Amino acid sequence: MNEFADVNRHYLDRVMDASKNSEVEATEDIVAGNGMKLLSKGARIDERVRERLLEYKLRKPLESSLKVAGGPDPALLVRCGERLLEEHSTLQALRTSRSLAALDCLRAFPAIETLHTLLALYGGSDPRKLDHAVAVSLLAISLHQQLGLESESALKVAALSGLFHDVGELYIDPAVFRAGGDMPLDQWKQVCVHPLVAHRLLSAVSQLDKAVAMAVLQHHERLDGFGYPMGLQDAAVTKPGCILAASELLAGLSEASRTPLHSARVALKLVPREFDRSIVDVVSSSRVAIEQELDRIELPTWHDTLEEVHRVVSGLHSVEHCRPEYTTRLDRVQGPVRVTFLAAGMRYERIRMALASAGVNTRDAGELRRLISDGPAPGLHLELTLVLREIRWRLRELGRELMLRVQRQAPDHLDLADFAVRSFSTPH
Ligand SMILES: [Fe+2]
Ligand SMILES: [Fe+2]
Repeated sequence: MNEFADVNRHYLDRVMDASKNSEVEATEDIVAGNGMKLLSKGARIDERVRERLLEYKLRKPLESSLKVAGGPDPALLVRCGERLLEEHSTLQALRTSRSLAALDCLRAFPAIETLHTLLALYGGSDPRKLDHAVAVSLLAISLHQQLGLESESALKVAALSGLFHDVGELYIDPAVFRAGGDMPLDQWKQVCVHPLVAHRLLSAVSQLDKAVAMAVLQHHERLDGFGYPMGLQDAAVTKPGCILAASELLAGLSEASRTPLHSARVALKLVPREFDRSIVDVVSSSRVAIEQELDRIELPTWHDTLEEVHRVVSGLHSVEHCRPEYTTRLDRVQGPVRVTFLAAGMRYERIRMALASAGVNTRDAGELRRLISDGPAPGLHLELTLVLREIRWRLRELGRELMLRVQRQAPDHLDLADFAVRSFSTPH
């Protein structure tokens, strides 16, 4: 029996969505695991066959037996890429004299039916998704060019891994993505598998360079070992994987922030050793573009910023309060899960240090008084705003990841993980 035997319900929903506007047909006979033919080659796939496809295990994965008419073709990808090169501030900041060569990579999109279908299902119904995929693709190509990694094969891997990095989302309930940042653990678990699903889908495409599937698998890994889904460290993350991870982050910030380059500079540097140093340097060196963003920034008032500093610093002090009890309980924990707790502790320390590097001495109770009396020094206000935002997000992410790993490794210690998470979540 193959691993694709069951049809994923959410994937099938996307197929059904696509079938409302485009013709979706079977490219070969679709046969159940017991040998019964469910659909003939050329049969139309729509709501009428939905239940039949869910009822049986299939002999071959449905993903490689479908064709969606229309959908993104190379010309559409190039048009989308041309527009993004004009509009996308992060892409413009990373632009090189060879940027137009990036469009050639999109133009060379291979004529492989399974890839076409995946992209049609991922980006066909929502132009923002296609924009995201193309942006990540172009960012990955630009970073390769900036780093001097410009062989034809490297750029091709960058282009394709960018386009397909999130196709694993097709297997996830769309409601999960609407939950936003405060996602409960069971939903976070679903999100964490999207690189694995995409890797499995792409690995099944025999004509595709294996490096594409590998980069996609690693596009949420972090070099300090606190990414997902594998928690790989340092050299275990391939260069294309590192670049794709940074590209995913940069694209996400461009979509969510009015100051994507400032936010990227803060996010990439916040936890040292998280991203490849050479990539951080490339992004941070776009000084002119970073300065230009200053006109677009709407900062909270200095008063609100200080309140936020106060909340975060109080949160950090409460961790200090809990530390003796936590240390005593951790002393009783052995084995791999102990390593997980220690790694989480180190990551927490690095996040705490970020506030210090933005100019706030987190160990000094009189720090807030000094900030109040000094007033908003130029640059500090902006730096604090971005760092505070990023710290909140990172602490939440760290908490979720710790819970998830402990649940997998040693559920007996979930209460200690919960204790740690509650102590380092900053109050709202
Ligand atoms: Fe992703
Ligand atoms: Fe993404």
